[in-house]
Amino acid sequence: MSAILSFDNVWVEYRDKVVLESVTLDIEERSFVSLVGPSGAGKSTFLRLVLGQEGPTRGTVLLDGTKLKPECEPDRGVVFQKYSVFPHMTALQNVMLGLECARAPVMARLYGKARKRARDEAAAMLEAVGLAHNLDIYPAQMSGGMQQRLAIAQALVKHPRILLLDEPFGALDPGIRLDMQALVTRLWREHGLTILLVTHDIQEAFKLGTRVLAFDKRRHDPHAPHRYGATAVYDVALDRKDREDAERELAAHLSPQPAAAGAA
Ligand SMILES: Nc1ncnc2c1ncn2[C@@H]1O[C@H](COP(=O)(O)OP(=O)(O)OP(=O)(O)O)[C@@H](O)[C@H]1O
Ligand SMILES: [Mg+2]
Repeated sequence: MSAILSFDNVWVEYRDKVVLESVTLDIEERSFVSLVGPSGAGKSTFLRLVLGQEGPTRGTVLLDGTKLKPECEPDRGVVFQKYSVFPHMTALQNVMLGLECARAPVMARLYGKARKRARDEAAAMLEAVGLAHNLDIYPAQMSGGMQQRLAIAQALVKHPRILLLDEPFGALDPGIRLDMQALVTRLWREHGLTILLVTHDIQEAFKLGTRVLAFDKRRHDPHAPHRYGATAVYDVALDRKDREDAERELAAHLSPQPAAAGAA
């Protein structure tokens, strides 16, 4: 196994506010990493680093041993909790758009055989996520679970090696959530993906992940809450039998979630 992503002493700071500090870790290719931690711990920031939407203020992020380029590349796909599909496009158009942008960067439009091929690829991906009979409907006509299936198809159609999922099931009903967990697990295996899943649900983290990573602050300064950032305070590979013990240990490890609004 080799590291697809490598973080070496990575910091992210906004002026005097430290969000992430001294993050040093490797992520193995084809692993399924669940990322947990309190609100504001920098989980989404960490995903933005992987996407190249943001650069570290200190340290380095390597993709396949090479410094990550500060731009979105087709080797990384992303699904957010909500709103990652275009409302004015049908399911098929949403998924085709990614291919059109990649293959016709100027006009984002393909013609003739190239268009037919993109259409077939998009339809096949929609079938893979269970939307074969919904190619021509709009997101507003879909349930939350269907919209997330669409967002996953949109992310996967370009065959990324790394799939980033930022609380993708957070807004879904429990039953639908189980279906989505099964879908993501199947796609992870079938496509040989490396997945980084941010979730607030510790059970989900342990159920799906081959590794659970928790971000939190090691140090707090009550007079200057911005002074210290979060880092990986807990990191466990799940090829061990005592999953439940590990889950309890993590629950005890994380600092309690602030109840008051704006406490992050
Ligand atoms: N552009 C920015 N300028 C200043 N601070 C920022 C900026 N982007 C993020 N932050 C801060 O970084 C911290 C981490 O944010 P981030 O969204 O990564 O947390 P998170 O762990 O994803 O939280 P949540 O679980 O609520 O989604 C927050 O305190 C946030 O306010
Ligand atoms: Mg977040």
